[in-house]
Amino acid sequence: MKKPKVSIIGAGRVGENVAYLLTILGIADIYLFARYKEGLEPAKAKALDLKQMAVLMDLDINVKGVSYDREGFDELKDSDVVVITAGIPRREGMSREDLLLENLKILKRFTDAIKKYTQNAIVIVVSNPVDTLTYATIRLTGFEPRRVIGMAGVLDSARFKSFVKEKLNVSNADIRTLVMGTHGDLMVPVMSHSFIGDKPIEEVFKAKEIDELIEKTRKGGAQIVSLMGSSAYYAPAASVVIMVEAILNDRKRVLPCSVYLEGEAAKHYEAEGICIGVPVVLGRNGVEDYELVNLSGYEKREFLRSAEYLRELVRLADKLLSEI
Ligand code: LAC
Repeated sequence: MKKPKVSIIGAGRVGENVAYLLTILGIADIYLFARYKEGLEPAKAKALDLKQMAVLMDLDINVKGVSYDREGFDELKDSDVVVITAGIPRREGMSREDLLLENLKILKRFTDAIKKYTQNAIVIVVSNPVDTLTYATIRLTGFEPRRVIGMAGVLDSARFKSFVKEKLNVSNADIRTLVMGTHGDLMVPVMSHSFIGDKPIEEVFKAKEIDELIEKTRKGGAQIVSLMGSSAYYAPAASVVIMVEAILNDRKRVLPCSVYLEGEAAKHYEAEGICIGVPVVLGRNGVEDYELVNLSGYEKREFLRSAEYLRELVRLADKLLSEI
């Protein structure tokens, strides 16, 4: 049987770890795309290394590297899933707008190729600012919004869970956490839908501990940046792989993802025209359904703050896209 095909654009720390974890899962052929840099071809090197690892582990998959600025994007053809990890991180002195502009320019190159070479791919966006780049990917590809999904909530919920775990001696399997909203300081850890065993988390922890958990979760990514000077990659890559697996195996998993809200979901969450983190059902067709969570009054206000912030960024992205 033909293996599904997953293309990963960007072979930086996140991209290479997505490829590594996917290789170990052995569920898809992997195409890794990166730039040709000063005589070096990192995508090709990493793909060869991974292919040899797959052979060593008796995994019958293929891994191929493509230096896209030399070879183009033809190899994206017939991808089942495309993961976009390429982009620049925010540097000293750079505003959020500068970062958005730079990453929109980079993104545009990929979306043109994705549009040209794939008809039915599901696209997962990882590059930051992820909610707004997911929106821009939908706009630039013209793909049905349900086929373009931002990775954020799976990672933020895992960080939340790890901070809960630090406080409690209970199996990870029995901690369920949910983070919604934007990927950043305004994210919303949703206590009313987070559980330890069958108990709501608010019955297990005191109000002060809950506040600490919220703060730690919101700063989870920044904590890693401040410790090593660059952003995380193992947990972000694992989050992507959980989403890819749910899609390829049509698992209908309920996972929080940054998605474009339409119809009933947009009405329920009072957030139209943006991509924002909410739980969705992920399957072979991408977002197969939205889970309509009833948030508490406080959570709803926080979620709407996220939405307002994202609306501003979308306005800015629309303006920048008309100029590039
Ligand atoms: C982080 C990046 C992946 O939160 O956005 O670490």
